Amino acid sequence: MKDIASLVSQMTLEEKAALVTGASAWTTTPVERLGIPELLMSDGPHGVRRVPDVHALGAPSLPATCFQTAALLASTWDRELLYAMGQALAEEAIALGVGVLLGPGVNMKRTPLCGRNFEYFSEDPFLAGELAASLVQGVQSKGVGTSLKHYAANNQETQRMRIDAVVDERALREIYLPAFERVVKQARPWTVMCAYNKLNGTYCSEHPQLLTQILKEEWGFEGLVVSDWGAVHDRVKALQAGLDLEMPGPRPHRTQAVIDAVKSGKLDEAVLDEAVRRVLQIVFRAAETPKGGSFDVAGHHALARRVAAEGMVLLKNNGILPLIHPQRIAVIGRAAKEPHFQGGGSSHINPTQVDSPFDELQARAGDAVLTYCPGYPADDSFDQALIDEAVTAAQAAEVALLYIALPSYKESEGYDRADLDLTRQQVALIQAVSAVQPRCVVILHNGSAVVMSEWIEGVAAVLEAWMMGQAGGGAIADILYGVVNPSGKLAETFPVRLVDTPAHLNFPGENGQVRYGEGLYIGYRYYDAKQVAPLFPFGHGLSYTTFAYSNVRVSASTFRDVDGVTLSVDVTNTGRRAGKEVVQVYVRDRRCSLQRPPKELKGFAKVELQPGETKTVTIPLDFRAFAFWHPGHKQWVTEDGEFDLLIGASSADIRAQATVTLQSTLQLPSLLNRESTVREWLEDPRGRAVFEPFFQQMMAQMRAAMGGGEEEGGIGMDMTGFIMETPLVSILGFQEAMLPAPAEAIVADLLQKVHG
Ligand code: BGC
Repeated sequence: MKDIASLVSQMTLEEKAALVTGASAWTTTPVERLGIPELLMSDGPHGVRRVPDVHALGAPSLPATCFQTAALLASTWDRELLYAMGQALAEEAIALGVGVLLGPGVNMKRTPLCGRNFEYFSEDPFLAGELAASLVQGVQSKGVGTSLKHYAANNQETQRMRIDAVVDERALREIYLPAFERVVKQARPWTVMCAYNKLNGTYCSEHPQLLTQILKEEWGFEGLVVSDWGAVHDRVKALQAGLDLEMPGPRPHRTQAVIDAVKSGKLDEAVLDEAVRRVLQIVFRAAETPKGGSFDVAGHHALARRVAAEGMVLLKNNGILPLIHPQRIAVIGRAAKEPHFQGGGSSHINPTQVDSPFDELQARAGDAVLTYCPGYPADDSFDQALIDEAVTAAQAAEVALLYIALPSYKESEGYDRADLDLTRQQVALIQAVSAVQPRCVVILHNGSAVVMSEWIEGVAAVLEAWMMGQAGGGAIADILYGVVNPSGKLAETFPVRLVDTPAHLNFPGENGQVRYGEGLYIGYRYYDAKQVAPLFPFGHGLSYTTFAYSNVRVSASTFRDVDGVTLSVDVTNTGRRAGKEVVQVYVRDRRCSLQRPPKELKGFAKVELQPGETKTVTIPLDFRAFAFWHPGHKQWVTEDGEFDLLIGASSADIRAQATVTLQSTLQLPSLLNRESTVREWLEDPRGRAVFEPFFQQMMAQMRAAMGGGEEEGGIGMDMTGFIMETPLVSILGFQEAMLPAPAEAIVADLLQKVHG
């Protein structure tokens, strides 16, 4: 390993300033004099988009395996599989000369309207963090870096380069940051990419709290922070905030601004040196991995087929699936022959090959007769003739398979969705076909939830096939014919209506601001708390077999927060086919001093079972599984008390549970202050000790003053209720004439006794 410190000391100011802004669209600045090579980065996240000309941003890229977008990856709930996919991505990056792959993206799906949700994992930070950590570990195990993005609160595409996300501290800590935190701590990504948007008034690229205090100091991130492409506005401010590398380049005036700032004393050269050190460390780490060679095209295609089959989610099935060799099949929908396997934007991959869903179906269907109709036009027009043709084909068949893809004009990076609907023609098509052919299966391709109430009743089955990657066509056929038993589970809630979604009244913002008014309550946290029934809940996904849960055990019924607790449950395959089940563990805090969502995912495991087989699933729950972020204490806090551990096959299908008692080891300072209410004084253990005698005396005096213990006094209110919710200093102020000292002095004296 290079002596980075010595290199930094040998570099001129000009060389250092040049190093912290890119030399091209995809590379850093080399310094030949000192043997500092360039670093090549490429998108990302689910394939390698290696553009041959490093000065071209959006040019066609070299062929690479197009794996699945994160929406499907998250639905696998399979850490090992994502690790394997990460390794395959790294092998391709090496062959294509890439040092850092720009991904994965772990922003939360705050609303299904976000056009870029297909690139994000989940509405749940634990699930997103766990899976992305596996992917990062897989990539980096082969000596290729990753870029965890887009840090932070990049949850919409509308005005993404300037919108100010206004997020309260608890929502930030409990919902929007934990996936980043988990990946940083667990998988140590080489780089983190800052988001375009502002967070609470400051561009993420210039946010000292995000980039330095939280990421580098609190979480211990040792890699480099790179800007999203074009996210930097003020290069000097960004450096001071902790943004190490600006991309893309070249931008000579930025370099000059850094030189000028150091010379004028505005920028401490030590700040620049630290950014240079971080950049060099990654440049040399990447250079340690020899590049070139080839990759296993066929092997990676086969892996992509496996991943696709694991992440597709069988949403509805009245028993029609798996198909039992129908002889006449109507194959309806353009997506059967023009597969929808990825999304639009920076993640767009030039695939090595693409499987046709139609051809793959034919391969599974043997000598059955397949009749194809496009069903809907390629553009946004309405064409009744295509529907009529499909109806005729469906009537003549034993079963109709409808391959429906949400077009890119409705969903992509760069803009948000206007609604959650399929196109008008697609809805009319499904309705018309299912009216004449009840044996009708809808296969969906989309990056986030769609609504279905206009047509779901009429169809026999729905398979969510997402943006399925280049080998997805075969995976669909495998699932339809039961060659693979579906095991994907939703990583996001599917609502009945757009108006039911959590951020509905706070999206996409106005006047340059979007207020995250729903706070902690996104995804199932919201649907649970509001008791709004979704179309399909978080964690839902059907199988061709059945599973039973039994024999729940905990390692201790009472435990200390720092020790955590381990939960075990037996899962049995009670059906006739082999299959996989995703066991989900949600934690419910029975009582908390602050509001908490009714339950939160804190553990999961995917287990494969033969018919009749039983396996024990063991899930550890640590301090953080029980903690919440306390804005008063500015730290993760646990409180003594009972917690329910809910074990489910989905968030709405809890099969077993256990209750455990947590003992907090925290010694927290009292938060009592001059404004604390009487209730807060009585509920604080130290406060109560000094205040109680005084309180009794105060209440007696007040009763006497109001004429002999009349609770309502003369103004028709419950005086005790009123007193409890009022700051002590104000209550005392009302009766200051009877007090030995001014109200403020009495409270100050009590506070002194509490805080010492
Ligand atoms: C996207 C990033 C991407 C970068 C480089 C940006 O517009 O937001 O995700 O890595 O471009 O293509």
